[in-house]
Amino acid sequence: MTLSLSIGRADLGALDASLLVVALPSGATLDAPLAAYDGALGAALQRLLDRRDFRGARDETLHLLGASNGPSRILLIGVGKGSDRVSSLRRAAAIAARQAGRMGAGSLAFYAGAVGTAETEAIALGLSVGAWDYTDTKTAPPEDERRAPLTTAVIVGGDESGLQSGRAIAEGHGLARTLGMMPGNLCTPDFLAKTASEIAARHGLEITILGRAEMQKEGMGSFLCVAQGSPEDPKLIALRYNGGAAGAKPVALVGKGLCFDSGGISIKPAQGMEWMKFDMCGAAGVLGAMEAIARLKLPVNVVGLVGTTTNMPSGTAVKPGDVVRSMSGKYIEIINTDAEGRLVLADVLAYARRFEPAAVIDAATLTGACVIALGHTASGVMGNDAALVGEVLAAGTRAGEPGWELPMWDDYRELIKSDVADIKNSGGRPAGTISAALFLKEFAEGYPWVHLDIAGTAYTEADLGTVPRGPTGVPVGTFVEFVRGRAG
Ligand code: BES
Ligand code: MN
Ligand code: ZN
Repeated sequence: MTLSLSIGRADLGALDASLLVVALPSGATLDAPLAAYDGALGAALQRLLDRRDFRGARDETLHLLGASNGPSRILLIGVGKGSDRVSSLRRAAAIAARQAGRMGAGSLAFYAGAVGTAETEAIALGLSVGAWDYTDTKTAPPEDERRAPLTTAVIVGGDESGLQSGRAIAEGHGLARTLGMMPGNLCTPDFLAKTASEIAARHGLEITILGRAEMQKEGMGSFLCVAQGSPEDPKLIALRYNGGAAGAKPVALVGKGLCFDSGGISIKPAQGMEWMKFDMCGAAGVLGAMEAIARLKLPVNVVGLVGTTTNMPSGTAVKPGDVVRSMSGKYIEIINTDAEGRLVLADVLAYARRFEPAAVIDAATLTGACVIALGHTASGVMGNDAALVGEVLAAGTRAGEPGWELPMWDDYRELIKSDVADIKNSGGRPAGTISAALFLKEFAEGYPWVHLDIAGTAYTEADLGTVPRGPTGVPVGTFVEFVRGRAG
């Protein structure tokens, strides 16, 4: 269920919500609306601040009872002293909404002093992120044991345009996370194709879906060798949103969509293998971003490309030592069938050329090495165009999805030289994220391109406060901010 968001202008004590959330920065003092409300609380807020029981530090929370009228509970949440108020509020709103869900509040009002359009958008998005939940495959508890989920939220003093854009981005975010959380037997390549068709129908986008037979005709031997061990039909999905000038070159967003990655014949260890249902988070990010971009009606032409399949061991699966011919004509030696994402993307990146893109950004849960290098804090960012890398990094920063550039020096190219083919699909463990990106670079020819390795950022194995274990929504925010940046 999506959170129903609105704008409120009433006095804090007169708000119709069961929880009042007050976001305060480090060292805050009470502004006029809070001071007025504090009267009804017997100056409890002022005393808390005087005693430094609440300091407004980032993520700090304090629960209080409300006044006899109005919201019955109050949650103070700290936004810290960071200079980026927009990101801080997005984060605080997500944490507050999750706590509201846990306490069964049902409705909340969010107060953060004076807020403009960007702050309203951030709060709307944060609240929606915090309220998101995946319950499709769980039996609901009996009525009397159920806690009211957070269904309505009021942003005090917010503006309509920020509310609307926040909602639009939240829809994309929620879609990406739901697809990510869905088990691999339900979120199949077919299901992703169906989801893309629904997005297309909802917003009047053009859509093309290639299956195994169509990909064979295109000569996509690289993508298809990953799919050959699986009975499911692989899909290459192309969604086209024409919000920009007719004839203006599109931005292409590309996503890795491995609905499950067992490793194939180079099978992964059993421990933790279930996490590999998240190996389609790049694809989910593309679909989520397309949903958000269409809702925002951004004046840019955008193509969303998804390469989706499952990587399975079987009698028909590709084997280490095999050589395949990619759509680009380059021959690839398969060293490790678990390095499958780059094989799928090689052909999707080659296919992207026909859209004559102004820029191509791919997002992929591509390498475990990226998790080792950057942890769960930043996505790996690499590309063939310094200006575009800078643009993508800036978009990620604005979205609260930081990236960090890794070098693409020619020296690393040695790692993926093959004895029998033009290139091999694994360079082994050293610089694993870079060699994977250098592999992709061979196929991202003829346009500026940036690769996001989101293996460490697209989903989390620990509760982050803002989101529970599972998908984080990365890279939806980066994609949307990038396209919005191109809209001027
Ligand atoms: N999907 C994995 C990468 C991954 C690992 C994502 C851990 C998230 C968490 C990818 O397909 C893969 O298996 N990569 C291999 C590459 C290696 C065989 C060169 C890896 O990282 O081990
Ligand atoms: Mn793999
Ligand atoms: Zn994978």
